[in-house]
Amino acid sequence: MSGVAVADNGFVWVPKASVIAREAGGRLREFLAQGVETEYKGDVDLVTVADRTVEKLIRGRLGESFPEHGIYGEEGTRERLQGEYRWYVDPLDGTTNFAHGLPHFCVSMGLEHRPVGTADGEDGTLVAAVIYDAMRDELFTAERGKGALLNGKPMKVSSTPELGEALVATGFPSRKRHENPNIHFYQEFTLRSHGVRRAGSAALDLAYTACGRIDAYWEFNLNPWDTAAGILLVEEAGGRVTNFSGGKYGLDSREILASNGLIHGELLGLFSDMFAGRGLEPIPTPQEYAARRMARTAKAV
Ligand code: IPD
Ligand code: CA
Ligand code: CA
Repeated sequence: MSGVAVADNGFVWVPKASVIAREAGGRLREFLAQGVETEYKGDVDLVTVADRTVEKLIRGRLGESFPEHGIYGEEGTRERLQGEYRWYVDPLDGTTNFAHGLPHFCVSMGLEHRPVGTADGEDGTLVAAVIYDAMRDELFTAERGKGALLNGKPMKVSSTPELGEALVATGFPSRKRHENPNIHFYQEFTLRSHGVRRAGSAALDLAYTACGRIDAYWEFNLNPWDTAAGILLVEEAGGRVTNFSGGKYGLDSREILASNGLIHGELLGLFSDMFAGRGLEPIPTPQEYAARRMARTAKAV
């Protein structure tokens, strides 16, 4: 024993789910060490034997621990979806990193309570979250109303008061890339903050927002298995999660904005301005840059 106090916050589902996430993360670590072949699901949407094997593992373990609960997994698991509780499972969030041997990925499991009468397509309430980064041995957990922990210690969002002092994160879709405008937002946020990170795991981006390593995160076109756990982590750590207009974030929303809460209003203002085409800061086009470069070279000779 290290002697460091580890809180359990009276969590109900997290203890068993954490054991499952740790086992799943251990398998990912083994797969990474042994190396795996990569297949394409679409455009540049990658999948490996690790994604499928680990989803199967989680599905089996959740079935043993919570036999009544439904499961909705990225790699196709759809079980007991009429149940009152439903796990959203991403067995490997950050597959592209994983496939390239970049050790930034995680297991993500979020539990939704869907009281009897909740219609298909209607959200229930997120009640438990577990995100495990096996490469750093970091376990992020939360339950609704009971707080959020990082390796058993309370975590909270940052206290950064404005975007100009913030470090923020985003991600880009792996499908229909030509239809996505996010590069414009990337540019604008870069010019107005300490920087934008694109680390390749939406679940870890949310977990990092929750523990204050970054101050905000946004992305287009995510799925419930990417976000379910991370949303609850951010909310229980004192942050805010909405869509880009400040409305309630739903699991099927195609846009997510998470922050420490303090800078949320400023971020929403920027989204609103950008959608209206207002206040964009100009930067040189590659052609303009090339012309200046040529001029500089000509002057030097
Ligand atoms: C992806 C990652 C990435 C995000 C993509 C997701 P996957 O999930 O979370 O950061 O930008 O939009 O699809 O495919 O690695 O599970
Ligand atoms: Ca994912
Ligand atoms: Ca995945």
